[in-house]
Amino acid sequence: MDIRKEYLEFFKSKGHDVISSMPLVPDDPTLMFTNAGMVQFKDVFTGAIPRPENPTATTCQLCVRAGGKHNDLENVGYTARHHTLFEMLGNFSFGDYFKEDAIAYAWEFITKNLELPIEKLWVTIHESDDEAYELWQKHIDASRIKRFGDKDNFWSMGDTGACGPCSEIFYDQGEENFSTDEDYLGGEGDRFLEIWNLVFMQYERDASGKLNPLPKPSIDTGMGLERVIAIKEGVFNNFDSSNFQPIIKKLEELSKKKTTKETIGSYRVIADHLRATSFMLSQGILFGNEGRPYVCRRILRRAVRHGYLLGFRKPFLAKLFDTLADILGSHYTELVEKANYIKEQLTLEEERFFKTIDLGMNIFNDELKNTKEVFSGEVAFKLYDTYGFPLDLTEDMLRDKNLKVDSAKFDELMSEQKAKAKAAWKGSGDTAAEGDFKQLLEKYGENEFIGYENTASKSTILALLDENYKEVETLEKGSSGWVMLDKTPFYATSGGQSGDIGALEDNKHIAMIEDTQKFFGLNLSKVNIESLNLRKGEKVEAIVVNRNEISKHHSATHLLQSALKMVLGDTVSQAGSLNDANRLRFDFTYPKAMSNEQIEEVEDLVNSMIARGISGDIQELPIEEAKKSGAIAMFGEKYGDTVRVVNFADVSVEFCGGTHVKNTSDIGSFYIIKESGVSAGVRRIEAVCGASAISYTKEIISSMNEIQSELKNNDAIAGIKKLKDQIKTLKNELVEAQSQSQSPISESMIGDTKIVVDVVSNGDIKKIVDDLKNANEKVAVLLLQAKGDKVMLVAGSKNTSIKAGDWIKAIAPIVGGGGGGRPDFAQAGGKDVSKIEEAKTAALTFAQENLK
Ligand code: ALA
Repeated sequence: MDIRKEYLEFFKSKGHDVISSMPLVPDDPTLMFTNAGMVQFKDVFTGAIPRPENPTATTCQLCVRAGGKHNDLENVGYTARHHTLFEMLGNFSFGDYFKEDAIAYAWEFITKNLELPIEKLWVTIHESDDEAYELWQKHIDASRIKRFGDKDNFWSMGDTGACGPCSEIFYDQGEENFSTDEDYLGGEGDRFLEIWNLVFMQYERDASGKLNPLPKPSIDTGMGLERVIAIKEGVFNNFDSSNFQPIIKKLEELSKKKTTKETIGSYRVIADHLRATSFMLSQGILFGNEGRPYVCRRILRRAVRHGYLLGFRKPFLAKLFDTLADILGSHYTELVEKANYIKEQLTLEEERFFKTIDLGMNIFNDELKNTKEVFSGEVAFKLYDTYGFPLDLTEDMLRDKNLKVDSAKFDELMSEQKAKAKAAWKGSGDTAAEGDFKQLLEKYGENEFIGYENTASKSTILALLDENYKEVETLEKGSSGWVMLDKTPFYATSGGQSGDIGALEDNKHIAMIEDTQKFFGLNLSKVNIESLNLRKGEKVEAIVVNRNEISKHHSATHLLQSALKMVLGDTVSQAGSLNDANRLRFDFTYPKAMSNEQIEEVEDLVNSMIARGISGDIQELPIEEAKKSGAIAMFGEKYGDTVRVVNFADVSVEFCGGTHVKNTSDIGSFYIIKESGVSAGVRRIEAVCGASAISYTKEIISSMNEIQSELKNNDAIAGIKKLKDQIKTLKNELVEAQSQSQSPISESMIGDTKIVVDVVSNGDIKKIVDDLKNANEKVAVLLLQAKGDKVMLVAGSKNTSIKAGDWIKAIAPIVGGGGGGRPDFAQAGGKDVSKIEEAKTAALTFAQENLK
């Protein structure tokens, strides 16, 4: 039985809309990951946005419970039922049916569709919930309904938001199969398996912790698909089901090790973590050092460490990926579509960790030998900081030894190092929801965007909001706030395209629009009142400024993405983008810096697409049809039933809600200004086109003119070469001049031998010694020169009894040096400039004493 399908169809037959899974990254910066099926409806539950036309829905939602509230990472591999990523089946009622129907539906599905035996089912309810107690008795004997407190039977998504008492359905896997002390209903053991949680959403918890009743009591349920599959297959552990076994079999084959009591945990952790990291990658979450990317990294590094225990010393997860895609790829087609990309990213991150894991493991094992009770916080920090071992990985390695890390010390070192503070991810709490959006939506519904076709319109002001998003009647001169027009030509920031700017005018006055954004489906423009008091109900002329330039950059981004795929390969994927009137920025996955040739090739390709004058075609298509067209969809984006597809003939097809040029030739020209790295595996291109390309080239031309006029040469390159030659000649002349301008040197004659001993400040003393030797028949010379804080000594002797080598050897120590050489020539260096005169006197004495 395909349980996922069975479930969705069951609730469809009960009138529910089947809605697709939302992305793992929720549209809520305070929530780490989508951690339950209800997350995509959280604002519907609280009433912050109106309920949909059909107030009942059903989903199969991918959830991650790692690193936020509801964190199961630590348990994976150690229990039969925890996963970092899992599929949650759910049915939802937004103020429609409540407890009675929710209970009846669940019972029908479990007993009729899944055919689970009634005698194995148990139910728990909140201790205060007499209503649920009565309702359940229609289906199950009162002796099998148990009451528990808040810890077990009260559910909330985060620290704030919708919540309520809940009722859980348990499946008894048989006394004969389980024997721990915890194997009772409500215990930690695995005998009684919770399979379905029915939450009776009745409250909204505010930031102070207070429970406020919801406008309409609602239903939110969640059933773990992996658990139900295991039960139906008659196995007691999710990892023994067909969802995981093929991956574990493949692992046994690759590691050439059978599953044993020692290795089984590692196999399970790897199978679980492969799923989580692969799905995260498929939705555009990358590996990194903060926030969600750091969770992704932590999960992968745990998998690598378990692989290491199994004997792997090189990346291995990509070899398991196809098995995972075989299991889940037909439902989650992104796994198949992005297969190459996911494998590449997995391998890159594994390589990064395999580089340091050996050294880290040695350090860990050495420290372990010295550890009695608490593992050193310093070493854990070193492992984290230098060897890339996340703290929870070290903790995991200590777990079976019953040891803990000195985490206070670790934390102290962490803050000392002023490690980039991870954003304070915590539960949920929605500040924007405190605005008056809900009332506006109820009063007016979503306002119409007419900006695809128009950049100006006569519109009526439906509502005005002050800077705190509270509705007001008037915005006075000198103030600013937000305006909601009945129909608006202003595009709201989305999909990387900046919100429109412009103006509102009446006959005499003007107010500036500085930005446009969407709030809960309302298209609002930020307005600065300069000379016009805006009043609700007024009619104004709305004018968009600079949209053409934004559209040029957005279309150029599409051409750029396709050129990058042509030059760098299909694994290039968009990781972020920004298009405004002056520039574009495009982030994409690629493991290394682009070469100058590649950058040039991409730039040329885009310019040739522009030169071809390709018409743009924009269509609204049913999602399935759009997918068939091969259009590039954004990672992790949730699309509706119909999507907008932007097409430039044979060069680019993308799902996109943005604004675009009618023909690529409108873009004018395209220049890449910079290519740089954003994070491991992600590169960034910054580029300009349209009017900005003209300003960019004009700037370059004007600096070129300035250079030419400074050089007094119309050929700048020739001018610079000439300058360089001149510098070279001048340098040589300078050296020559210095050696010419040597200071006068004192000479004396002893018999027919010329003796020269002196301190020379300018000139090349080696050359002076040579010159003296050439010019004289019998000569002994020793010259000293201070060079900065060093002393240089050179001695020469021609036809005399003085040996230059001995002479230098005797004198150099005086200036703190040493050296020597041949009888006719020697040199040395010293370090004590202050003794230079003393050395000179000693050198003269030496000459007098040694000349025979
Ligand atoms: N939202 C509920 C849960 O996650 C159903 O358990």
